[in-house]
Amino acid sequence: MYSLKSFIIVALVCTSLTVSSLDTARLLVSKQVLNKLLVQDSDILVKYTIYNVGSVPATNVILQDSGFPAEAFATVKGNLNIRFNRIPSGANVTHAVVIKPLTYGRFNFSAAVVQYKSSENAEEPQFAISSEPGEGYIISYAEYDKKFSPHLLDWFAFAVMSLPAVVAPFMLWWVSKSKYELILKQKREKVSKD
Ligand SMILES: *[C@@H]1O[C@H](CO)[C@@H](O)[C@H](O)[C@H]1NC(C)=O
Ligand SMILES: *[C@@H]1O[C@H](CO)[C@@H](O)[C@H](O)[C@H]1NC(C)=O
Repeated sequence: MYSLKSFIIVALVCTSLTVSSLDTARLLVSKQVLNKLLVQDSDILVKYTIYNVGSVPATNVILQDSGFPAEAFATVKGNLNIRFNRIPSGANVTHAVVIKPLTYGRFNFSAAVVQYKSSENAEEPQFAISSEPGEGYIISYAEYDKKFSPHLLDWFAFAVMSLPAVVAPFMLWWVSKSKYELILKQKREKVSKD
């Protein structure tokens, strides 16, 4: 009797394992910040990729990113909260959002959460956490302007400093040319005298 009971339990565990590992959808989610430079008041592109590595389609997929608080970011384009009806097995879907930081300083780009139905008859939703872009530094607009905008004065200083490099070879060439012409002239005069 005892052995039959344990056999049934083992069998049950096995079936549930087989069902969960074989006939379900499994989503891998990545979140990437595509800009190299993060500047206050300038657009930042965030890309989400959802990859179904499971054997059946994932349905009722809801991507939610609550990592951009409204007091620090404006959403320029796209939606931080989106739903996909169905992601087939082996397929990728990508989603992009453009946001704009309203302030500057250090910021933690956190993970997004995806909720989905992992099989036809799953009752509980399954959750997946995206990769985390991590900490970034948003530079202020003033700082950006100082570093990257072309300043006329800087260019002028550069031109003055690089002038000797251009002038020196010219002087050398000019001196040797005059010397050569002088020699030529003297030679000609000599010839005409003879
Ligand atoms: C989905 O993305 C993964 C990882 O980037 C890649 O290995 C796979 O080939 C992609 N599948 C399709 C159908 O594009
Ligand atoms: C960002 O998050 C990581 C991990 O959650 C934490 O170690 C780090 O201190 C955080 N940085 C900031 C600036 O909040």
